[in-house]
Amino acid sequence: MILVTGGAGFIGANFVLDWLAVGDEAVVNLDKLTYAGNLENLRPLRGDARHVFVQGDIGDRATVDALLQQYRPRAVVNFAAESHVDRSIQGPGEFIETNVVGTFKLLESVRAHWSRLPADEQAAFRFLHVSTDEVYGSLGPADPAFSETTPFAPNSPYSASKAASDHLVRAYHHTYGLPVLTTNCSNNYGPLQFPEKLVPLVIHNALAGKPLPIYGDGSNVRDWLYVSDHCSAIRRVLEAGRLGETYNIGGCNEKTNLEVVETLCAILDELHPGSPITPHASLMTFVKDRPGHDQRYAIDATKIERELGWTPAETFESGIRKTVAWYLNNQEWVAHVTSGEYRNWVSENYAAR
Ligand code: NAD
Ligand code: DAU
Repeated sequence: MILVTGGAGFIGANFVLDWLAVGDEAVVNLDKLTYAGNLENLRPLRGDARHVFVQGDIGDRATVDALLQQYRPRAVVNFAAESHVDRSIQGPGEFIETNVVGTFKLLESVRAHWSRLPADEQAAFRFLHVSTDEVYGSLGPADPAFSETTPFAPNSPYSASKAASDHLVRAYHHTYGLPVLTTNCSNNYGPLQFPEKLVPLVIHNALAGKPLPIYGDGSNVRDWLYVSDHCSAIRRVLEAGRLGETYNIGGCNEKTNLEVVETLCAILDELHPGSPITPHASLMTFVKDRPGHDQRYAIDATKIERELGWTPAETFESGIRKTVAWYLNNQEWVAHVTSGEYRNWVSENYAAR
């Protein structure tokens, strides 16, 4: 049995679905169900005894203590976080609350539980913390990609809160001996991503004939990874990662935002010629830049490849096609998650641009 936190969000839900598709070890899934968490993501697991869902906060000691005691998981995989950079700019408080204080409280619960385990269970136990490449800051065009030894230089409230959580996880290993692993991954895309992030937002707007907002001049670079490749990397690190180590995860797919949006538009032209406005690229609109917008992220993933033999299965070309096809086939899912709170967020965030 493993305990997954944040398993109703984009990557967490993909992870739980993949985990139970490739094996039989049960999952307890603790998620607060914020705007980003959605039980529909876990619909294929309805009635599956291997999945136990619990609504709750990683910062709620009583809930987490009780879950650890009841289920005695052999590992905790921590996805729970506030994850959207633009939201962290408009309101950093929740990011500090969940990403910093929540991770701290989770670590405290896990440390108390782990310290009471018999020696064999203690030795086998793992706490895997899922983090981001944004902790390393921003690269210039000629800089080498982020490695695990690149100094932290977070630039947004989101990345600063994730960097703080990474430091806490590291400290719990060095101070208390907690058996931790940390992964720092680049931009994910794929099924079930909430349409506040670039890829699903562009698909969603394009299908509705709405402008496709490109911050600044669209030259910012991200290193894109298909979500199931992130999930397979986490499984591999959990299985064989060296305790106390961090592993960078990325797909070697550096693209400018313009390239990403143009690619999405071209695939939509091909797969969905019936949109209200085509070609979809005619909807591309340059808007005010994100404050403190990081210019470039790139991941050097040689450590995880060399030590653990992990490489991604998808190329950007194959993954992005699958993603567009998934959104076209799951417009009901998009309609459900884009009601209410989502519409308020979009009108606030994009009105200012
Ligand atoms: P997401 O916003 O889609 O999902 C986050 C999930 O965490 C939601 O289900 C939400 O309800 C839950 N949650 C939030 N606060 C919680 C709390 N206090 N207690 C319990 N659950 C809580 O995020 P995502 O994109 O799936 O990201 C998951 C993790 O991966 C995050 O830690 C993020 O920093 C990291 N990450 C994301 C990316 C990416 O490109 N999306 C890349 C690298 C790393
Ligand atoms: O690098 C990993 C990170 O990737 C994760 O840690 C974060 O949780 C995840 O949200 C993502 O952060 P980004 O800020 O890179 O992702 P986002 O999809 O918000 O934006 C991608 C790029 O596209 C970025 O340069 C900003 C730009 N953008 C974004 C939106 C939402 C636009 O030009 N227009 C938009 O409307």
